[in-house]
Amino acid sequence: MSDYKKIKNKYLDKLNSNLKIEELNNIKTELFGKNGLISNSFKNLGQLKPDERKKHASDLNSIKEELQDKINAKFQQIEAEEINSKLKDEKIDITLPERDISQGKIHPVSQVIDEISSIFSEIGFSVEEGPDVENENYNFTALNTPENHPARDMHDTFYLDNDKKTLLRTHTSPVQVRTMLKGKPPFKIIAPGRTYRSDSDQTHSPMFHQVEGLYIDKDITMGHLKGCLNYFIKSFFEVDKIKMRFRPSHFPFTEPSAEVDIGYEMKDGKIIIGEGDKWLEILGCGMVHPNVLKNVNVNSDKYQGYAFGIGIDRLGMLKYGINDLRAFFETDYRWLNHFGFDPLDVPSNYRGLSR
Ligand code: PHE
Repeated sequence: MSDYKKIKNKYLDKLNSNLKIEELNNIKTELFGKNGLISNSFKNLGQLKPDERKKHASDLNSIKEELQDKINAKFQQIEAEEINSKLKDEKIDITLPERDISQGKIHPVSQVIDEISSIFSEIGFSVEEGPDVENENYNFTALNTPENHPARDMHDTFYLDNDKKTLLRTHTSPVQVRTMLKGKPPFKIIAPGRTYRSDSDQTHSPMFHQVEGLYIDKDITMGHLKGCLNYFIKSFFEVDKIKMRFRPSHFPFTEPSAEVDIGYEMKDGKIIIGEGDKWLEILGCGMVHPNVLKNVNVNSDKYQGYAFGIGIDRLGMLKYGINDLRAFFETDYRWLNHFGFDPLDVPSNYRGLSR
C-alpha cells in the first residue's frame, strides 16, 4: 500500500470514531497544518521525477479532498450533537405554574410620616433626624428637665446602663438640642422618628412615633404656633375647618406650655374631625424655655420661638380608622395588606416629597 493510502486509512478510521471538537481540530492540524502530513507530501512532490510527480499529485489531491470532506462532515455532526444535547438539557417546562409576585405595602406609619413631612415642607420646615439611642443630657438635662423629674423615672424610661447616662429617647425633643447646637438661628425644622417609653395598652406601645417641630427666630410668638398647627391639622385631615383647643400644661422645656385637643364626633362608627363636642389630645407644645436656649448657646434676649411634639401613630389611627395602636407593630401581613398603602398610589394631600 502506498504511503498516501496508509495515511488515508489511518485518518479515516480516526475520523469515524467518537471525537470531541478539540480532537477534530488536532486531526485537522496534523494533516493540513503547516507541517501537516498532507502539506508536507505536497512539498515533497518537487523532488520526484516529472512522470511520477503527476501520478502522485493526482493521488494526493484525491486523498486530500476525501479527508477534507470527511473532516467538514465531522464538524457538522459534532455541532448538531451539541445543539441537540443542549435542547434536551435546557428544556423549558411550560406546564410549571408561575411564581407568586408579592407586592409590598407602605406601612401606615411611613405613609403618615411622609404626609406630615410634605405638609410642613410647604411652609418652610426642613427635616432633621436624631438617634434612637440618646444620652441623658440631650434627652433631659439640656431640655431643662431636673434631676428629680418623674419622666426620668425607671418606670417610664428605658435606660441602657446602670449610671442612667444612655437611654432610648423618650421623645423627639433631643433633636431640638442637636439641631441648635450644630447651627445658628433661625431654626425651622421638624424631626420625625421613633420614641420609647415603658408603657403598653390599647393606646400606648413601648415604641411609638413622634414628630418634633421647632421654629426659632427673632419675633416668633404663640400666635404663629397656633396658626401653624391650625394649618397643619386642616391639611392633614383634609378638612376646611377644625375645632382646636389649647389647654394650659407643663413641660420643663417650654414656657408657657400647652396641650392641644382637636374636636370630633362619631357618626355611624366613624370619627368626623372638626365637628361635634368630643375632644382628643394630639400634641404638646409651647414657647421654648430660655434655659433651653441658654444650654444650646442661643441668645434668648434676641431669639425666641415655639416647639411642638405630635404623636404620629395617633394621627394615623384617627385619619385611617385604625383602633388598636399595638397592631401597628405586630408585623401581621394580613393587617398590613389591609391598612397598608400601595406604593404607586399618590395620596391626595401628598405634595411630592421623595421617600
Ligand atoms: N416632648 C413632649 C412629649 O413628648 C412634647 C413637646 C414637644 C412639648 C415640644 C412641648 C414642646 O410629651
